[in-house]
Amino acid sequence: MENGVFITIEGPEGAGKSTVIVMLAQRLEEEGYPVLLTREPGGIEIAEQIRKVILNPDNTAMDPRTEALLYAAARRQHLTEKVKPALEKGSIVLCDRFVDSSLAYQGYARGLGMEEVFTINQFAIENMMPDTTLYFDIDPEEGLKRINSHKGREINRLDLEALDFHKKVREGYLILKERFPERFISIDASASVEDVFTFAFESLKERIAKIRE
Ligand code: TYD
Repeated sequence: MENGVFITIEGPEGAGKSTVIVMLAQRLEEEGYPVLLTREPGGIEIAEQIRKVILNPDNTAMDPRTEALLYAAARRQHLTEKVKPALEKGSIVLCDRFVDSSLAYQGYARGLGMEEVFTINQFAIENMMPDTTLYFDIDPEEGLKRINSHKGREINRLDLEALDFHKKVREGYLILKERFPERFISIDASASVEDVFTFAFESLKERIAKIRE
């Protein structure tokens, strides 16, 4: 049996990663790879419950550190219940968001510090870093425009306020890309879905072969 490969997909909102990840999973399956396509909290009951607490709009008093700890807790459960068993069976695991989301969103954009957020996540993941990470890079203005055009409305003041936060998220990702050049595959997500998919698929296949050498 071949070794499992742990692949994460990262990027800001509106980068199209959710569309492309489904295409990647299908194509890899067609080529005979055993694939698990998942996302945090991944349908894991305990992780879903934690996620509800994070996203509950009534929880306005939530402290940013509490938020980071809850993401890490949900991550732990999803990792042990779903990701690890699949890797042990030799699957290619495609996971929509993982620890880099916490580093970019909570660590950098919310200002908790990437090192601190990494430390609490290290307790949760115990060195289970992804073998490779596809990073969908897009200018946040472009990303938000895409989201809003889907909803058929223009960018309003609130969207513009959010823009600052999303700019920071991207800056956070760019720092991570510099820090982990071996792990990160950066993709220009402003291109067409077909081009993004083709580039992502070719890069992934090459990387999977290298990891399994
Ligand atoms: P989701 O609805 O899954 O959106 P997306 O399609 O963008 O992945 O929402 C996930 C949101 O949670 C997204 O805004 C990023 C944020 N997030 C964090 O802030 N920290 C994390 O660790 C994770 C996993 C997600």
